[in-house]
Amino acid sequence: SKHKRETWSTRKVFILAAIGSAVGLGNIWRFPYVAYENGGGAFIIPYLVALLFAGIPLLFLDYAVGHKFRGSAPLAYRRLHRRAEGLGWWQVAICFVIAVYYAVIIAWAGMYMIFSFTEAWGDDPEGFFIGQFLQVSENVNIGFDFVPGVLVPLVLVWALVLFVLAAGVQKGIGRANIIFLPLLLVMFLVLVVQALFLPGAADGLDALFTPNWAALADTGVWAAAFGQIFFSLSVAFGIMVTYASYLKRRTDLTGSGYVVAFSNSGFEILAGIGVFAAVGFMAYSAGAPVNEVAGSGGIGLAFIAFPTIISQAPLGALLGVLFFGSLVFAGLTSLISIVEVIISAVQDKLGLRRVPATMAVGLPMALVSILLFPTTTGLNLLDVTDAFVNNFGIMAAAFVAVLLLTYGFRALPMLGGHVNETSSIKLGRGWRIMVGIVAPVVLGYILINELIARIQEGYNEMPAWFVGVFGWGMAGALIVIAFLLSLIPWSSRSAATHPVLDA
Ligand code: PHE
Ligand code: NA
Repeated sequence: SKHKRETWSTRKVFILAAIGSAVGLGNIWRFPYVAYENGGGAFIIPYLVALLFAGIPLLFLDYAVGHKFRGSAPLAYRRLHRRAEGLGWWQVAICFVIAVYYAVIIAWAGMYMIFSFTEAWGDDPEGFFIGQFLQVSENVNIGFDFVPGVLVPLVLVWALVLFVLAAGVQKGIGRANIIFLPLLLVMFLVLVVQALFLPGAADGLDALFTPNWAALADTGVWAAAFGQIFFSLSVAFGIMVTYASYLKRRTDLTGSGYVVAFSNSGFEILAGIGVFAAVGFMAYSAGAPVNEVAGSGGIGLAFIAFPTIISQAPLGALLGVLFFGSLVFAGLTSLISIVEVIISAVQDKLGLRRVPATMAVGLPMALVSILLFPTTTGLNLLDVTDAFVNNFGIMAAAFVAVLLLTYGFRALPMLGGHVNETSSIKLGRGWRIMVGIVAPVVLGYILINELIARIQEGYNEMPAWFVGVFGWGMAGALIVIAFLLSLIPWSSRSAATHPVLDA
């Protein structure tokens, strides 16, 4: 299309949107438990190493690709090298899969904001979540028995997200982050303070922060740290390429990257404090040690442990609204970013305008999400998709990307040079070593370990056919689909046929 590429109005808006994308469910319910189970206070060492030596260097790589080539992931990679387009579509396909189930968790959290007032779970939060709320069926299968209590909020989530995206980069995404992100920060700060005043909070913090130095000798702990950092910073799945493509020409990329990365980590530490203060209170109420009530995090923490805490804590309804509200707002800004990756790609490829592209992408996607997940079989599907798209989607795509960019296309000197033209902190040999050597070695190690574990143990005692289709099959299909999409010719109206224009 002839129209100029959309841009953020200022660098601040870009930074806000990038933080909004990074800060998601991973910060709130993933980080506290990963840290707790992998050395507690000692986890800070592998965590910082992973952040500084892999997370931030890869973040700069994403920024460099998006900003230099000013395109969605497929377009930017295609401009980098004629044969790199498929890499971009692979990232787009990953984003599609994540988005269809991520929206579902936001819908649950929205309902639990309401339940915080009514304490709908009574004295059995687990039975309520699995039984009455999700109505999980006994058999692990795919079925179309809809659960209205999930269907209705899910439709609302999609309507809101598509409304924001249709409004465009600055007026939609930018504005939504300007509103949601401060709101999230305030809610979460109040939540943390309230949690810190609960009896037993100190024991929870002790459990989280007491260092287990022996853990540092365990390679699994290091793998967990790198896994957490990759997921948490949203690197290597097209999001940061897309967002950086909307930046104006002269932008301090590295300076922005540090702000985004440290804000995301700050939010994680804060979440660790808030969540473990609350878990300490749960232990205190149950008269049991923290390690007995701590559970394993994730869905169980949010939808089973937190309701228990809400029922017992003074001002529990407030605590619940703050906690589930934080999940909703943190999740919405992440969901927006991940759907934008796909919209942007389709817009570039077909030369569509913003609104038609949003509809062409958003409506089929919302339909897939709505047909598959608010059903009595949705929970297992969500569980297995999440595990495989994270471990064999994001990790594998990141692995292939760093290898190809470093050794296949030999693009690192050119990309580093581009960043250095406008950035305060320069990228040199150290950066190239981290991207080209440290990252692939660590990613390869994590991938192989996970591959062996899944082959030997299967997944969560689910039937092999189910894991085969929705785990392995889905992860493999992403690569095939990416390859096929890259074969479709670019429309003559599309951005690929235009030179990279200056903003
Ligand atoms: N970085 C996000 C988090 O920590 C992960 C994510 C981003 C997931 C965008 C989906 C979409 O939760
Ligand atoms: Na994050």
